Amino acid sequence: MAADPRFLKYVDEHQDDYINRLAQAVAIPSVSGNISYVKDVEAMADFLISQLESLGVKTQRRPIGTHELEGKEVDLPPVVIGEIGNDPKKKTLLIYGHYDVQPALLEDGWLYPPFELTKDPEGTGKLYGRGSTDDKGPVLGWLNVLEAHKNLGLELPVNMKMCFEGMEENGSENLDKFIESEKDKFFTGIDCMCISDNYWLDTKTPCLTYGLRGINYYEIRISGPGRDLHSGVFGGTVHEPMTDLIAIMSKLVTPTGEILVPGIKELIAPVTADEQAKFEAIHFEMKDIHDAVGADVTISNDTVKTLMGRMRNPSLSLHGIEGAFSAVGSKTVIPASIKGKFSIRLVPNLTVKEVTELVVKYVEDEFKKLGSKNKCEVVLTHGGEPWLADPNHYSYRAAHKATEAVYGQAPDYTREGGSIPVTLDFANILNLNVLLLPVGRGDDGAHSTNEKIDTDNYIRGTKLLGSYMYELAAISKE
Ligand code: BES
Ligand code: MN
Ligand code: MN
Repeated sequence: MAADPRFLKYVDEHQDDYINRLAQAVAIPSVSGNISYVKDVEAMADFLISQLESLGVKTQRRPIGTHELEGKEVDLPPVVIGEIGNDPKKKTLLIYGHYDVQPALLEDGWLYPPFELTKDPEGTGKLYGRGSTDDKGPVLGWLNVLEAHKNLGLELPVNMKMCFEGMEENGSENLDKFIESEKDKFFTGIDCMCISDNYWLDTKTPCLTYGLRGINYYEIRISGPGRDLHSGVFGGTVHEPMTDLIAIMSKLVTPTGEILVPGIKELIAPVTADEQAKFEAIHFEMKDIHDAVGADVTISNDTVKTLMGRMRNPSLSLHGIEGAFSAVGSKTVIPASIKGKFSIRLVPNLTVKEVTELVVKYVEDEFKKLGSKNKCEVVLTHGGEPWLADPNHYSYRAAHKATEAVYGQAPDYTREGGSIPVTLDFANILNLNVLLLPVGRGDDGAHSTNEKIDTDNYIRGTKLLGSYMYELAAISKE
């Protein structure tokens, strides 16, 4: 069933209101990973609640415990849950999104202040701002749908339950426990789930996403000297933690992306013919990725290899070294203890546990080979399993129809290289099919400087989410 034409017309006529709603949200710097923004994250939860309440959603602000942030014990951002409609004749859709964002500073290279939604003065329709695409724009897309229906006096085609968190960018701590504890309470009677928190692959082809890589994040902690030392006095006489660490980190991955931890390659599920065909059907040119990266520095120039590298093969990235001297100038210090950080993106059949066993053994073996008297330990700081959904489920078929209606073309079926670990928690704990229905484009720059969403994606994205609800209402579950 196509969306009510009055809804689609309303969306077109209220673009400015919708952009204004996004501007209000972007103006709240709800950075979850930084102690100085704790109040702003709370304020963002309150903003969301007041918006939802005014749109007729029965909401609850649920505390989920405390955590340590920069050495202080603070409340975790609340989970905001809500429901609207409970007609037993209708399907019930669960949606999830996150209201927290990554940090952003003007001096990192933003064209405009990151927490002021700014229209591109060149008239391209780009709306710049932290969270514009990850994930405030898509979350507000749902609210825009509700607003249209409320103001037009239209009934929603499905019942909705919603769950919004403010800790996604910082590991979604305790959300799994929350889902578990509400499994037979709030999260009952749900037919299927939709998450809009990823992106198209390119800048012109809408997609439905049925897989995510998992992620294991590790720290290699090396210590020895009782204090930081002067390299003129102690250089050449002690085992230096940084030297040990660089030696180990250089043995994790090659510059062409080959993971050197033995045993990982062997665990990767073989590519099936059906999978190969799905990857070959994806609309994708090397130029898309070169544009998104900002340079031609791809490892391969083959599209299918590149897509598989991103979506269905594991990768190991080195992220940083805590405790290293990193300021300007030439300080001659030997850091006494150091933490090297890296992560491995997981795909079927790599599990958090098996990969960790392989990593720990390998790092320990390699450390022994160094003959250093320092201490070394490798710690998994967080882990999330990979996820795959059934793309033939009725929820995907509904989204396929909605995409054709709004964009006049069939969506690509993609998997994501990134991770939204709660997807798997929702799917497993609640035994649900989860659909990832992206709103933004591949070049939106989530987490980067100058993150943006295109006005067209935000507005058509609102129509897409609404149309999906209509198609879902009408589609047979068979
Ligand atoms: N929206 C992203 C997930 C994502 C990233 C989807 C790139 C598609 C492409 C989400 O907000 C995110 O940043 N996830 C983190 C999870 C991590 C903090 C556990 C990620 O992927 O790094
Ligand atoms: Mn996100
Ligand atoms: Mn993110």
